[in-house]
Order: sequence, then C-alpha cells, then structure tokens
Amino acid sequence: MEQEVNLNKVVRQHLEMEAEFAGFAVRPEGRPAEQKQPPKSSEAEAADAAKELEAIAGEVRQCRQCELGSSRTNPVPGEGHPRARIMFVGEAPGADEDAVGRPFVGRAGQLLDKIIAACGLRREDVFIGNVLKCRPPGNRDPRPEEIVCCIPYLQRQIEIISPEVIVALGAHAAKTLLNTNKPIGQLRGEFQEYYPGLGRPPIKLMATYHTAYLLRSYTPENRRRVWEDMKKVLGALGLPIPERGKS
Ligand code: URA
Repeated sequence: MEQEVNLNKVVRQHLEMEAEFAGFAVRPEGRPAEQKQPPKSSEAEAADAAKELEAIAGEVRQCRQCELGSSRTNPVPGEGHPRARIMFVGEAPGADEDAVGRPFVGRAGQLLDKIIAACGLRREDVFIGNVLKCRPPGNRDPRPEEIVCCIPYLQRQIEIISPEVIVALGAHAAKTLLNTNKPIGQLRGEFQEYYPGLGRPPIKLMATYHTAYLLRSYTPENRRRVWEDMKKVLGALGLPIPERGKS
C-alpha cells in the first residue's frame, strides 16, 4: 500500500516537474532554448582550466584523508564547463552518483537538469560539484571533519573555474561556503558573497533549496521560490529569462 502511494507521488511529481521546469523551456524540436553564454575566456584558457580541474579530479581519486575514501564506490569530483559562468554546488554524492562517479544523476539530478533547461541553459554550460566528493554511507549528513578534509578541493575548483555566480543547493552547501549557521530560509532569495581568499573579489552566491528537498516538499510555493532565485541568477548574468518563467 505504502509503495502504491509512493509511486503515485513519484508520478505526480514527475508530471508537475515537467510542467513547471521544463514545459516552458522546451522548443518544439525538443531542445531547450539555445542561450549562448557570452564567452568569458578564450579556448586556450578553458583548455588550461580543464587540465587543472582534471588534476584535482586525479587527487580526489587517490584521496583517503577521511573514512569516506574507503567506503565509497566511486569518488565524484564534479563535472561541467571548465570556465562556467554558473557553478552549482550540492552537498555530497548519493547512491546513484557513487555508482557512476558523476554528480547529480539521480532523481535530484534530473530535477536539477530541468531547472538548468528552464533557465535556457545546457548541463554542459555550467559546472556541477559538491562539498563532499565521496558518498556518506546511508546518505547521512556530512560530518565537520569530512568537510574540513574535502573543502580545499572545492575551493580550488572555484578558483580555477572562477564562476560569476555560485548556486549553493541546500543548507550544507550554503552554510559551508558562507561560513555561517543561518538557516537556508534566511540565506536564500538574495545574493550573498563567497570570499575566495585574500586579494580576490567576492563571488555572488545564491543559496536555494536542494533539489532533493524540493522533491520531498514539492509545493507550488517552494518551486516558485527556487524559480525566483534562479531568475535573479539569470538577471545578474544579463541572461534572458525564458518567456513562461517570467511571472
Ligand atoms: N545530492 C547532492 O548533493 N549531490 C549530488 O551529486 C547528488 C545528490
């Protein structure tokens, strides 16, 4: 019985997800509105950045600094455009990500894909990473000592990619990057600043609900809040807001 109810919920969420985050961005030929990102850097710079990111991914693959290094199946260093204008940061890989070594490929990832498409972008236009590069067993919360071990990888990725906007998905990413204990409800909705280190200008950071939370609390209100946050991100980058998402 419980399974039937869950199945209904999943189907309903899927349909709502299609309508809310994909319907208005999908062109008749089935592709999201092509929204060329103005090139931020030359191809040579992007190639250099890609090499540096690959070097970090190599270190992550060898990493055994915390116990997650031995319990993981695959590390998940992150992926995407090496000089993306938008960088999404989640909490930690889940079971699906651990199985394949790629970020946001499970249900929460499918919803993130819809949100990216709703923004008129493609997954390969952005970079997607996590605070932790290895899955905490049973999807438990990241522990402070794991964050301390892992955060330098993310800090270096941010430095290389040098995004104009970071979108922190959920409380763990937002609190870690902003070094605060404020609840996500207080952090989202307005730009915050991420400080990449001495001598470097702050980077705009928009905190929003994690897509896994959104799936659990799939209310019109929460979906509207996430879309409001993303509209601010698009506005800050000077990118057009896709037609049906304007309201
Ligand atoms: N949730 C996350 O925070 N990260 C992933 O990569 C997948 C799910």
